[in-house]
Amino acid sequence: MNVLLIGSGGREHSLAWALAASPLLTKLYCAPGNGGISQDAECVPLDVGDHDAVSIFCKDNGIDFVVVGPEAPLVAGLSDHLRAQGVKVFGPSKAAAQLEGSKAYTKELCDRKAIPTAAYGHFTDAASAKDYARAQNTTLVVKADGLAAGKGVTVAATLDETLSAIDECFSGKFGDAGAEVIIEECMLGEEASFFALCDGKNVLPLATAQDHKRAFDGDEGPNTGGMGAYSPAPVMTEAMCARTMEEIIKPTVEGMAEVGTPYQGVLYAGLMITDEGPKLIEYNVRFGDPECQVLVMRLKSDLLPALLATADGVLDHVDLRWFDDAALSVVMATKGYPGDYEKGSVISGLDEAGSDENVEIFHAGTTQKDGQMLATGGRVLNVTARGATVREAQERAYAAIAKIDWPEGFCRTDIGWQAIAREEQAA
Ligand code: AMP
Ligand code: GLY
Repeated sequence: MNVLLIGSGGREHSLAWALAASPLLTKLYCAPGNGGISQDAECVPLDVGDHDAVSIFCKDNGIDFVVVGPEAPLVAGLSDHLRAQGVKVFGPSKAAAQLEGSKAYTKELCDRKAIPTAAYGHFTDAASAKDYARAQNTTLVVKADGLAAGKGVTVAATLDETLSAIDECFSGKFGDAGAEVIIEECMLGEEASFFALCDGKNVLPLATAQDHKRAFDGDEGPNTGGMGAYSPAPVMTEAMCARTMEEIIKPTVEGMAEVGTPYQGVLYAGLMITDEGPKLIEYNVRFGDPECQVLVMRLKSDLLPALLATADGVLDHVDLRWFDDAALSVVMATKGYPGDYEKGSVISGLDEAGSDENVEIFHAGTTQKDGQMLATGGRVLNVTARGATVREAQERAYAAIAKIDWPEGFCRTDIGWQAIAREEQAA
């Protein structure tokens, strides 16, 4: 079959790599793709915001299945448009994508289905938001309701910080995304991510992961889209995964179906593991980036039939196999990221670095030009490795990085440190 993958990051490279290995695949296209993805798929310069252009491409090229990587096209309704044109799609409808597109929508679902999450208030003006904040006697988190590229959340240490975060949202700093504001109780615990495929009624749990959001070693420095990840998350024991399924994921899928917006795609739950058990921080309607990279490294089964079964509503017939190994991914970014950085530096040594069969180098921000691989993004490479332990996966990833010649790049040197500390304590 012919498949079109939508997106251009490391997540999409890892999906392209997994899909390209499927015996069911005839031809893989990726729009717009990147320099690394072009090794696994034919990259096509489509504007994915132009839904007609995407459906015309599908007709012209006999596309049987579209896999949507990022949230923006889902929230914009690309899957609805393609389905209306008779194209099979992996990814939720615009209505169901509100689980990521609107924090208020998700909180209301949590209320309706008694899903454990932080206590909250929902506001459309600064004055009532501030009144609420002043009346709370606890640390608060202020969130712009809509998509704000991961920047709309402030964990405020003081009331002053809370009040200025409220002003920031309502002053238009996040555009329309900040027109409504959620204020939450700050939950204490360890964060973990849980991924599941959902076909509207059935749920197939995938695996767990943890990421590092800060730019520098020791989890210091500015927030980023993610500087590394590993899977599984040690805090997600079998019992914690079972509770997450029963208390959070299943009621969500049920609640979405009840209101006529069944959820079809991958559900990514950001969790806080508190003393009382797992609580929902947020939902994303797509795979995590770089969490997807570590999930696909651990997946033994063919990914394509699982994504097809999700779209076809027959996930109850799917059984996925996983390597017992851990996987870990280190992000290499251009110096300056997440602030300003130069584009166009040359990366070499990638073939040698990727020669270990336990290592895959996924590209997040590269362009191939005149036989050279150029860094054209902030996050550029995801050096991903498998190992019997997180420690072994980490050693393999950093051994590969040592072979990459890219003076303009940097990475954290401690990805996986909490998990490795746990492994060493247990040993
Ligand atoms: P979100 O975009 O909702 O995932 O929030 C970004 C980050 O803010 C999360 O990964 C958490 O680290 C933190 N955060 C969000 N909500 C809460 C909360 N209610 N309590 C504690 N931390 C939170
Ligand atoms: N790595 C976090 C995310 O994909 O949202």
